[in-house]
Amino acid sequence: MVCINYVVLIMTFKNKTILITGASTGIGKAIGEKLLDINCNLILTARRDEKIEEWVNNFQNRKAEILIQKNDVTNKVSVAESYLKAIEKFGNVDIAILNSGVGESITPQNFNSEAAEKIMNTNFLGVVYWIEQLLPAMIERQSGIIAPVSSLADNRGYSGSGFYCASKAALSIFAEGLSVYLKKFGIKVITIKPGFVKTPMTDKNKFKMPFMISAEKSADFIISGIEKEKAIIQFPLPTVLGAKIIGLLPNWFYRLIAK
Ligand SMILES: NC(=O)c1ccc[n+]([C@@H]2O[C@H](COP(=O)([O-])OP(=O)(O)OC[C@H]3O[C@@H](n4cnc5c(N)ncnc54)[C@H](OP(=O)(O)O)[C@@H]3O)[C@@H](O)[C@H]2O)c1
Repeated sequence: MVCINYVVLIMTFKNKTILITGASTGIGKAIGEKLLDINCNLILTARRDEKIEEWVNNFQNRKAEILIQKNDVTNKVSVAESYLKAIEKFGNVDIAILNSGVGESITPQNFNSEAAEKIMNTNFLGVVYWIEQLLPAMIERQSGIIAPVSSLADNRGYSGSGFYCASKAALSIFAEGLSVYLKKFGIKVITIKPGFVKTPMTDKNKFKMPFMISAEKSADFIISGIEKEKAIIQFPLPTVLGAKIIGLLPNWFYRLIAK
């Protein structure tokens, strides 16, 4: 269904400058591949910039103007430098899809604060660092879209994923507050909450991942949701409904079944 209006919908991205963080693999790469096909300016960032170069170079007949930036979102200076280079090339950023993220399974046996630092610094502070750069110009222009990629796992503490869930809960709550505040400045904050998507991140998981979709399909949901300027883009529907139900369960019942 999402693809039916795709050609019409994608027109909103035309002639815009779009930043995608975490564009080397997975969801970020899939969004980038779809946007390469339209006239727009694309800023693609990740630590492994060579991986971005690789898929961009494999794309035939691209229409987008590209800037690839090696960038570590956990490093404020690296973020500031990448932003500066983007502004030097394109003048401004209209749409920022803040997608960089990491996940790691943490058990009581391998519990370590380094994993917590890595996950929080990437998934939460990495978004904050980018917003710090983007905001002044967006406020001045009274326009812009900031779209952090959170997760449907922001609703409860899932076993073995405590740091990840905590980072995404922090991100979703932060984004909600920001969306209310920035509305009066003409800036839209769109929180993206995917269910399971097949990417290198989920390829590591040993547990069952119901209703998993492809990265390409997730990119369709995200592009179409941004076009419609939804406050929250969440998908796929069965996982959204499942997450809502799980979120409503009484704590004692959740603990009983979560094992
Ligand atoms: N896959 C799912 O089921 C799922 C579900 C819900 C939410 N999400 C969220 O979707 C986003 C994308 O994940 P994915 O599934 O596409 O996983 P992925 O393929 O592993 O992609 C993660 C991306 O984040 C980048 N990244 C990681 N650490 C970074 C850092 N310090 N600085 C800059 N970039 C960094 C990676 O690039 P480099 O390593 O090259 O830097 C990579 O491009 C994440 O925020 C994830 O939490 C995924």
